[in-house]
Amino acid sequence: MRNVLLLLVLVGVVPLFACGEPEGPPFKLLVDVKQLMVSIVDPAADVLWDSVGTVISAEGVDEWYPKTDEEWAAVRNSAIVLMESGNLLMIGDRARDQTAWMQMSRQMIDAGAKALEAAESRDPEAVFAVGETVYFACDRCHGLYWIDDTDRGRIRDTPRTGGQ
Ligand code: HEC
Repeated sequence: MRNVLLLLVLVGVVPLFACGEPEGPPFKLLVDVKQLMVSIVDPAADVLWDSVGTVISAEGVDEWYPKTDEEWAAVRNSAIVLMESGNLLMIGDRARDQTAWMQMSRQMIDAGAKALEAAESRDPEAVFAVGETVYFACDRCHGLYWIDDTDRGRIRDTPRTGGQ
């Protein structure tokens, strides 16, 4: 009996060593960070930023904010997209490193969560204020990693050709 147990333990343990890196979920990453920004992150941020505003001109004060259920749902959906994009940014080789990149992706999740809270409260001022929180979450990461713009980016990694 003892020998059988020992055998079972060995059989269980050996493959653990043989496999090396544990295998993660079978993600299939067909777009890179740039495409994520263009197609998912930026449009969602625009919905949030454009949803509340004021323009003061010679004609008077023009104020706008979501009023209908559909309009509030659009803000809510974009907050969720931003939140989940933080996770998408951390997957596979989208992550430029395991430290600051991860922190900033998580900050985007937090900013998105605050945006969601604001959207659910249906408070235009809260939505306006959270726009700034989201903006800073974008900007902090761009300041470090946006490598294709000569004015931006201090950390460089291997150049990307896109479409991977
Ligand atoms: C964790 C890091 C990170 C966060 C957070 C982040 N970005 Fe980016 N973003 C990047 C990087 C890196 C690039 C440059 C990608 C490249 O050119 O390969 C980029 C590029 C962009 C671009 C330019 C795309 C193009 O046409 O070249 C836009 C627009 C953009 N981001 C919008 C946003 C917005 C809006 C937010 C916040 C809601 C945001 N990003 C948050 C890392 C981030």
